Amino acid sequence: LFQAVELAPRDPILGLNEQFNADPRSTKVNLGVGVYYDDNGKIPLLAAVHQAEVARVQLAAARGYLPIEGIAGYNKGAQELVLGKNSPLIGAGRVLTMQALGGTGALKIGADFIKQLVPDAKVAISDPSWENHRALFERAGFEVVNYPYYDAVTHGLNFKGMIEGLRSLPQKSVVVLHACCHNPTGVDLTVDQWREVAQVVKASNLIPFLDIAYQGFGDGLEADASAVRLFADLDMTMFISSSFSKSFSLYGERVGALTIVTGSQDESSRVLSQVKRVIRTNYSNPPTHGGTIVSTVLNNPELFALWDKELAGMRDRIRLMRKQLVEKLTQYGVKEDCSYVMKQRGMFSFSGMTAPQVERLRAEHGIYAVSTGRICVAALNSKNIDTVAKAMAEVMKA
Ligand code: LMR
Repeated sequence: LFQAVELAPRDPILGLNEQFNADPRSTKVNLGVGVYYDDNGKIPLLAAVHQAEVARVQLAAARGYLPIEGIAGYNKGAQELVLGKNSPLIGAGRVLTMQALGGTGALKIGADFIKQLVPDAKVAISDPSWENHRALFERAGFEVVNYPYYDAVTHGLNFKGMIEGLRSLPQKSVVVLHACCHNPTGVDLTVDQWREVAQVVKASNLIPFLDIAYQGFGDGLEADASAVRLFADLDMTMFISSSFSKSFSLYGERVGALTIVTGSQDESSRVLSQVKRVIRTNYSNPPTHGGTIVSTVLNNPELFALWDKELAGMRDRIRLMRKQLVEKLTQYGVKEDCSYVMKQRGMFSFSGMTAPQVERLRAEHGIYAVSTGRICVAALNSKNIDTVAKAMAEVMKA
């Protein structure tokens, strides 16, 4: 049975963790995966999360099956975060949200459902995009194409190319958009640019799939949702995958959500019934623990305020690391102006390093980055930034 099975390549992101864990060097630094570490290099347990968790443990609650679509309070909280508490679409019963196994799980449920609706649709992702976007949609049976996004010369956005690319897609193509904190480049659109994109997506009759895995890491929870809200203002049916992995520092709990905006309340109930079948035949129903914690925080005003404050703390620390990285790269002799790193948003920076440079960084310095040159700025801290900047400067200069 398995004789002809070929060895698959390591996952370009999670595979780095395997390599990193096996590396015996005590000075190693993992800038690969998108995980926030605090200034001591630890994944934080947020105080809001801890309080919700203690309350849950004290309840000693039974662990029955959740509904197929997950915890009602979680789903309500998740949809309000992306669309706003006063969203008229929510009021009209046109929004449904399903608890999902992280942002990846939300994308996969959405992909499987879209495959049922428009089996021949093309899926367009940004060039470049999160590595798993292509893999996930291809595995769901779609042809995946790129629309222009990143401009390597300016280290910014190729907006003209993006608009032209979107305009040239066949009707009913799925267009995957990073609603904030673009992964891997950190290059985001302005609100005006988003408005134009939303208009083009609507006029071209495309199916928007907004991926918002880093809400709160750009400019704040509300500001980071502005792209989603612009699409909502144009009254478009759409898919939104969101994740609490990073914002709640609950990576291993697989806390995400798929939100779908339909055309009417009646459509919503039919769509929900179908998506529930997708979920049931994939993993039946979501797990309880992480979802309960997130739901508790989202629905308790004091815990919500505490969480929002902690999120701001993470955001500010990342900004500080960006600033220091730019200063230190210059200090260690990089001639190019690296200030673009400070304009980028979220956890990542597209550093401009080539694949061979990234490989040298790993082999010679024990510093791990994605081969595209993406580094996770959220893994830098006051203790490792000097070593990292020095090593980066060394490989970038050579
Ligand atoms: C990343 O891009 O590093 C994160 O989204 C983690 C993942 O699942 O790839």
